[in-house]
Amino acid sequence: CAPAAAEGPAAAEGDTIKVANLSPLTGPVPTFGESTKNGFMMAVEEWNANGGILGKQIEPIVEDSQCTADPAVNAANKVIDQDGVHYIVGEVCSSASIPVSEVAQEKGVLMISPTSTNADVTLNLDGTTKDMVFRACFIDPFQGLVMAKFASDQGYTKAFVMSDQGNDYVRGLAEVFSEKFVEYGGEIVGSENYTGTDTDFSAILTKVADSGAEVLYLPDYYNVINLVAAQAKQLGITAVMMGADGWDSSDLDIAAADGGYYSNHYSPDDTRDVVVDWVSKYTEKYGATPDALATLAYDATNLLFAAIEKAGVDDAAAVATAMESLSYDAVSGTVTFDEQHNPIKSAVVLQVKDGAIQFVASVAP
Ligand code: PHE
Repeated sequence: CAPAAAEGPAAAEGDTIKVANLSPLTGPVPTFGESTKNGFMMAVEEWNANGGILGKQIEPIVEDSQCTADPAVNAANKVIDQDGVHYIVGEVCSSASIPVSEVAQEKGVLMISPTSTNADVTLNLDGTTKDMVFRACFIDPFQGLVMAKFASDQGYTKAFVMSDQGNDYVRGLAEVFSEKFVEYGGEIVGSENYTGTDTDFSAILTKVADSGAEVLYLPDYYNVINLVAAQAKQLGITAVMMGADGWDSSDLDIAAADGGYYSNHYSPDDTRDVVVDWVSKYTEKYGATPDALATLAYDATNLLFAAIEKAGVDDAAAVATAMESLSYDAVSGTVTFDEQHNPIKSAVVLQVKDGAIQFVASVAP
């Protein structure tokens, strides 16, 4: 562990506890940012209404990190160096969270990503755990397996995989799904790469049609899904589209993606009391049903505050230690961390059907 991480940033004796949230408020996936900010703010406001933490009010600082490495790193440096925060809730997207995690680790700031699922977010290059970095969600080796198993259980044996190799999240999931689908007895009948700026997918989709694929696995964010799904529909592609948590958006084109399935962290249709209460209070405040991003941002922020309270001191290294042995009843499930600072949690499979998102199954780890 780096000496800088053990010391932490210079302890500023303030009247408040400053906490930063890095959310992609602009850029390719703005609904991710809005939901994340909402969930974060809701937790901050609730704790402040209950007296804050360690007798101090919490001062939230929200920065737009754009789901992109450079703006996210700049935002992280700004909140650490200029605002003096010791804690970051963010980023959302794995390709942004991985470089931010390196900054947090180096500067001794505690980071908890609500939703970044790529395994490398919490890991150093040598495979050891970044001691200052946590997340509130399951990881892609699990999420990719869930969908491979689901596809196989549905009786499908031929899958085509599309991937953006420049996106850590997409690349990682495409890899896991391909490997696991074969392990479950399926065959990958084709795979094609595209880039994040592509808008015309007709050449790839023609290959999908020719391959005889029954399943098209596309683990990207909703902005890409909307383009691919609309073009696939136009071309009369019959393969069932499957994907992952990145589909979760109020801007997902549910007409184009009709019939598709995706893995996610939570379903608002869950009947547990904690979920029912959460859905009702969020809907009242923001006028929308909370998606997984809002829910995990709320959970991640609560986890952080519970760890600060448990540590009893506003010191990032002490809070990281407290977090390691925390057990917390979050909306998305009870959270305890494994050695790599990942919670062990269930996933849900959802289907886009008849103009709505429908719960299909819950899958335990
Ligand atoms: N898991 C995605 C990533 O790592 C982010 C995401 C989570 C997007 C949940 C939507 C919903 O990049």
